[in-house]
Amino acid sequence: MPDCQLLNSILAGKVRRVTSATSSNTENVVKTLTAWAQKFESTLKDMLTAESAVPEVLDKAVRYSILDGGKRVRPFITTRMCELCGGTAEEAAPAAVAIECVHAFSLVHDDLPAMDDDDLRRGKPTCHKAYGEAMAIMAGDALLALAFEILAARIPQPATAAAAVAELAKGCGWAGMIGGQVADILSENQPPDLALVNKIHRYKTARLIECAARLGAICAGANQTLTQAAADYGQQLGLAFQIADDILDLTGDEQQVGKAVAKDANAGKQTYPAAVGIDESQAAAHQAAKKAIEALEPFGTDADDLKQLARFVVERNK
Ligand code: IPE
Ligand code: IPE
Ligand code: MG
Ligand code: MG
Ligand code: MG
Repeated sequence: MPDCQLLNSILAGKVRRVTSATSSNTENVVKTLTAWAQKFESTLKDMLTAESAVPEVLDKAVRYSILDGGKRVRPFITTRMCELCGGTAEEAAPAAVAIECVHAFSLVHDDLPAMDDDDLRRGKPTCHKAYGEAMAIMAGDALLALAFEILAARIPQPATAAAAVAELAKGCGWAGMIGGQVADILSENQPPDLALVNKIHRYKTARLIECAARLGAICAGANQTLTQAAADYGQQLGLAFQIADDILDLTGDEQQVGKAVAKDANAGKQTYPAAVGIDESQAAAHQAAKKAIEALEPFGTDADDLKQLARFVVERNK
């Protein structure tokens, strides 16, 4: 089977490459990520402290949106990058939780009827389907605010906390993820344009993944060289991630991915496959993953799991 066809089948969940080195790499990182995500769940719960002033329905909508689901790719990157830069997982924990809070907020709002109008997320009804539109807007807002509260209150060194707050605000704000989401919406039903797709993907998705990596470096007090390596890794991995997400919309299985598929074309979205076709999209995803791996060079073999993560991102079927 030609490589692109085989990759297609892997993405569609029809074939498992149990014998190849690439596949065993991917399986290793899936195991690592799954085990790590289980531990992260309790860190997350600990930091979602129940405040008596929070209305019960809001508390439920927030927990529904962030707990018990998701691959946890971004907080894993934050944590491992912090460790690679000489810090500890404990030092990274507030930033890891904060980046996942912002990611969960972005998903809740992305699914709203005014945006992508989706009914299924992480294998369950979207927040607005479960709690209503007003509550989903508020739950997203609350998650965004909570992210900054956690950074400010739980990072002990004031200068590190301030740097983390500034980085996250920039990464998710008008010149970051939110800016990218606006570009995504404004570009609907326009002729496919690769330069535009690259810009949208860079901001709506890659910027937040870059932010996850940069936060890890910030929490470890990394030098300029390592911080730049972290940023380059995050940017390239983020691009690969969104190209793979576009491909999954065409080749994926709703049950596997836990969200509706075959929606982007109907919505007139600017996607990689719409711009260059599926084979070139796969090649571009691999190219970005390769660049992500190259960016990890200063960390040597200690970064092998993040290299495997880059391969997983383009081979995943969920
Ligand atoms: C989905 O992100 C949104 C995109 C940026 C494509 P993930 O695929 O990381 O979603 P979860 O967190 O695993 O549900
Ligand atoms: C979402 O991109 C990027 C975000 C900032 C949430 P998509 O709209 O393609 O993500 P999915 O496919 O709904 O997860
Ligand atoms: Mg969207
Ligand atoms: Mg969407
Ligand atoms: Mg998508």
